[in-house]
Amino acid sequence: MPEVFGAKPHERPVPRISIHAFVEFPDTGAALQRAGADRRLAKAHLNVQLGGIGAAVEHYHGVVTPNLLLVETRLNGQAALEELDRLAHVCDPATKVIVVGRTNDVELYRELMRRGASEYLVAPLNPIHLIEVISGLYLEPGASPIGRVVAFVGARGGVGASSLAHNTGWCVAEELHINTTIVDFDLPFGTTALDFNDEPSQGVAEALSAPERLDDVLLDRLLIKRGEHLSLFTAPAALERDYDASTDAYESVLDAVRQITPCVIVDLPHVWAPWVKATLVNADEIVIVATPDLASLRNAKSMAELLKNNRPNDAPPRLVLNQVGSPSAPRSRPRISPRRWASIRPASSISIRSSSARPPTTARC
Ligand SMILES: Nc1ncnc2c1ncn2[C@@H]1O[C@H](COP(=O)(O)OP(=O)(O)O)[C@@H](O)[C@H]1O
Ligand SMILES: [Mg+2]
Repeated sequence: MPEVFGAKPHERPVPRISIHAFVEFPDTGAALQRAGADRRLAKAHLNVQLGGIGAAVEHYHGVVTPNLLLVETRLNGQAALEELDRLAHVCDPATKVIVVGRTNDVELYRELMRRGASEYLVAPLNPIHLIEVISGLYLEPGASPIGRVVAFVGARGGVGASSLAHNTGWCVAEELHINTTIVDFDLPFGTTALDFNDEPSQGVAEALSAPERLDDVLLDRLLIKRGEHLSLFTAPAALERDYDASTDAYESVLDAVRQITPCVIVDLPHVWAPWVKATLVNADEIVIVATPDLASLRNAKSMAELLKNNRPNDAPPRLVLNQVGSPSAPRSRPRISPRRWASIRPASSISIRSSSARPPTTARC
């Protein structure tokens, strides 16, 4: 089950490596640029140049080659192999080489592998497949699968983002029997402990203050077990201390949690800070929760647009309209009917969550 729910192969982030590419055709360059803009390649440094293998050979005379070299050839068969042999003379043995060609030639593939190339890809390249291949090259043998990170954020405060995050986490754990951790990143005001009837703890705050110490043993101590499949990483919900962890610390905590849990639900506060933006951009799935009032929908639209621009190869965020028709919702706030909301969305499936008996509503932004 964890393998089924965990991150897909292309969702593994690529480590901090340098990648140089020497392409022959503009479409290969465009595919590489698209892959380079992807969140999974955010740590890697990608440089794309024209000129193919010939330009690479010239460039690396007396120059150290990068961690990964991607070279494109126009040639086939023996001619392509001879061109590659010239590259081998200037290429550092530690450098991995991906060759891109135009022909689906099994013989050429076998011969390239025999000569030490890491992969042979046939153009036109698919950016997602390319990320998957690169990620696979840096995967340690026997590494276990990592979890999927699903981030919940409210378009305004109080729209029910935490309620939805906690209920979703509970359902995934209890009904689908998938090991799940709910991570409460709302350090001063988080409600995870309240909602699960637990004491607030220093768990997340302690992890964020020293993410480099976060191994399986420490995680086990900081996480609160709630049933067979659910763990909680609760927030202190206290105001005495300042919470000023770095963006990298938030990322490291999630990296550590996803090493041990196939489903990671992140409950984000409604604030716009660099670490919130980075957590959303890096999530495998995003849920924006809004209520049907003007400010909430305006904010949801701004967030969705920004996230779509920053995640060109991902599905758009999901939008959940909550508290639709709720009698408890403030009357002073102008309401927008779900029908009108649906009519202004270009997107697909819509569902509505309300405090009345109606079923939940989600849409792709
Ligand atoms: N669909 C709903 N119907 C009724 N009350 C709701 C609904 N969704 C959320 N609430 C209530 O609204 C309040 C704020 O919810 P919360 O999940 O903490 O919001 P957020 O995390 O967006 O600030 C809570 O008291 C919660 O129980
Ligand atoms: Mg909340």
